[in-house]
Amino acid sequence: MAFPERRMRRLRRTPALRRMVAETRLSVDDLIAPLFVREGIDEPRPIASLPGVAQHTRDSLVKEAERLTFLGVPAVVLFGVPIHKDATGTEAWNPNGIVQVAMADLKDQLGDSIVVIADLCLDEYTDHGHCGIVDDQGRVDNDRTIELYQRVALAQAAAGADVVAPSGMMDGQVGAIRSALDGGGFENVAILAYAAKYASALYGPFRDAVDVQIAGGGNRRAYQQDFHNRREALTEVALDVAEGADMVMVKPALAYLDVIRDVRQMVDVPVAAYHVSGEYSMIKAAAANGWIDGDAVALEHLTAIKRAGADLILTYLAGEIAETLDG
Ligand code: PBG
Repeated sequence: MAFPERRMRRLRRTPALRRMVAETRLSVDDLIAPLFVREGIDEPRPIASLPGVAQHTRDSLVKEAERLTFLGVPAVVLFGVPIHKDATGTEAWNPNGIVQVAMADLKDQLGDSIVVIADLCLDEYTDHGHCGIVDDQGRVDNDRTIELYQRVALAQAAAGADVVAPSGMMDGQVGAIRSALDGGGFENVAILAYAAKYASALYGPFRDAVDVQIAGGGNRRAYQQDFHNRREALTEVALDVAEGADMVMVKPALAYLDVIRDVRQMVDVPVAAYHVSGEYSMIKAAAANGWIDGDAVALEHLTAIKRAGADLILTYLAGEIAETLDG
């Protein structure tokens, strides 16, 4: 026992030893792939600020979901880009709206071999880019917006969504959506609540992906969470669980690992974390410059999110990481 400090290195000596004692294992089962489907295009369109991610046509969406299923990715979360946007976002609950028809395609082609999650929000569908109805003073009206979310939930459920994922951060949205779903006979449709969703500068590339600009250079700080706060996230999560959320989410992921950890300790439902567009783009941009090894950083980041306590990770890296992980 002359040099007890050497003890720590014994189990790091070989890859097999390290694998044997690894505390955290990222698995393809943990991954949820965000996918974009755009109305009125014939070819998938690359998204410049999200290299490797595209706005899909209905056909290419099904092909991509098939590829992900083949790779073992259990779930996708779907975002729509409609041609027509208006003040209230009517396309979001149109039964023939782009997300509804695309979801029905996925369910026709892939059935229950993949979990289809519908992002439930209005920002992709409103002409002002806010997540709800804007009143005369420019504020997003909480309760009128929630009524619209109920319609969206019913349209998404009717189109075949296994899970709806309300992301608008209106107060009471989870309870209202649960009661609408139950009232419509969709008791089996689950809710993944974007419970602790911060007003983050990391959503920039996503807004390119869905063609959203917030009117007047606005922002979402009056409804999404302030990044200075941690305890507030626990209140948000507790409310969503009490209102009937089946799973809760923290978003973004890496700058909020403390929040993921706290939430994991507080609740028993599955905890998801969203590794968002800006987090993905930073890896891709630095890797393209040769400044970091992008694949290695991707694995390190996603493993850290899992280590912090996330059971599920929404990530644009899902497909490429799945290719490198053992089933
Ligand atoms: C809202 C929504 C956003 C994201 C997912 N759902 C944008 C926002 O809140 O402004 C961002 C996802 C990402 O950046 O990858 N529908």
